[in-house]
Amino acid sequence: MSSDVVVVKPAARVHGRVRPPGDKSISHRYAMLAAIADGASAIHGYSTGADCASTLRCLGGLGVQMREEGRDPVRGLDLRISGRGLRGLSAPAAVLDAGNSGSTIRMLAGILAAHPFQTSLTGDDSLRRRPMRRIIGPLERMGARFVSTDGRPPLTIEGTAHLKAIDFEPDVPSAQVKSAVLLAGLHAEGTTLVREALPTRDHTERALQAFGVDVRRDGSVLSITGGERLHARDLQVPGDMSSAAFWMVAASAIPGSEVVIEDVGLNPTRTAILDILRRFGARVDVGESRGGDLGEPLGAIVVRHAELRDVTIAPDEVPGVIDELPVLAALATHGGGLVVTGAQELRVKESDRISALADGLRRMGAEIDEQSDGFQVRATRRLRGGEVHAKDDHRLAMAFAIAALGASGPTTIHGAGAAAVSYPEFFSVLESLRA
Ligand code: S3P
Repeated sequence: MSSDVVVVKPAARVHGRVRPPGDKSISHRYAMLAAIADGASAIHGYSTGADCASTLRCLGGLGVQMREEGRDPVRGLDLRISGRGLRGLSAPAAVLDAGNSGSTIRMLAGILAAHPFQTSLTGDDSLRRRPMRRIIGPLERMGARFVSTDGRPPLTIEGTAHLKAIDFEPDVPSAQVKSAVLLAGLHAEGTTLVREALPTRDHTERALQAFGVDVRRDGSVLSITGGERLHARDLQVPGDMSSAAFWMVAASAIPGSEVVIEDVGLNPTRTAILDILRRFGARVDVGESRGGDLGEPLGAIVVRHAELRDVTIAPDEVPGVIDELPVLAALATHGGGLVVTGAQELRVKESDRISALADGLRRMGAEIDEQSDGFQVRATRRLRGGEVHAKDDHRLAMAFAIAALGASGPTTIHGAGAAAVSYPEFFSVLESLRA
């Protein structure tokens, strides 16, 4: 468990321009697809977060050659990845460590299911508590075999060169599960269908298309036919909307604030946060969206404070803001109020995000009720600040920091180093935005 301690003082207002780190979801996908493409791909603006480094480490363990050609705290990493072609990964010599990253272990499992060797994957304490049956079920139906610890990592995957296509409807709306099955379907005999009851982020579909693979959507049904080879590409990763959310919330929350977010991904499956900020009352302007590289749009966003109102987030909106719910709870502590239901998935994220969030915000003076599938924040009084723990969860470390900006006194965040999982530069950017 990270022991780093950061003290966050209240802010009079926040002001400035930010280029968020490269999108974490897109970085994982571009690296994995580059690894199984024919030829060498270049990826620019790859996330500086520890999770995306975990993906690279695992790919390295599977024989993928890569080179870091540049590193900048704002523009991210420039990588060159030599693809090994479809089913070209090699058996690892040791257990692969996915660190804190659910996306790494779940999506890589879809690719490894199609490789005829054994791979063992593990992770940190948080990852070893997270449910994997959601990917084990469909990947076993396709022909792979898994050994797990009661449905949790460590996982041993026995892949096969003869995966079979399936027709699959996940029981939880999850882009990671959808992606694991699509990536296995890319290698399977026949056409794999994934039926999405609620839409989730579509970066895998877009990334597969960018690498030249035909993935189709017909209403809520996705299809992919196995056997198509991927072509190496030169790709730019847009800024991460879920990281930008911290600054957009800070600007919405504190009177007199204005923050400009540059080069942020504007994929419509990630922009629901903008609509919710507007419902809170914030003034949100989206600059013209440029068609980004091969299918991921990006652009600039300006967020300004206005009087906050009460907001309710309905269950069918939850997948669109699943990673932003902790910081939206932080927003409600500044004023307004927030009711969230249908968000039971929060209990199986990097921490039990409902109870850890309620515990932390309460320690700072918030009035928050916890339900099995959500929470309610009542903005009846100003936070006083206090001492909180991030519980190995990057989004909680950062959400507590944003709540702390509106408190009357300082907040001490234990385990604040967890922010490095997705946003290593977070606390220095926070200081630079204090007006
Ligand atoms: C992600 C999907 C979401 C999200 C996670 C990243 C992805 O998880 O919470 O941070 O990259 O596909 P689920 O798909 O499990 O909801």
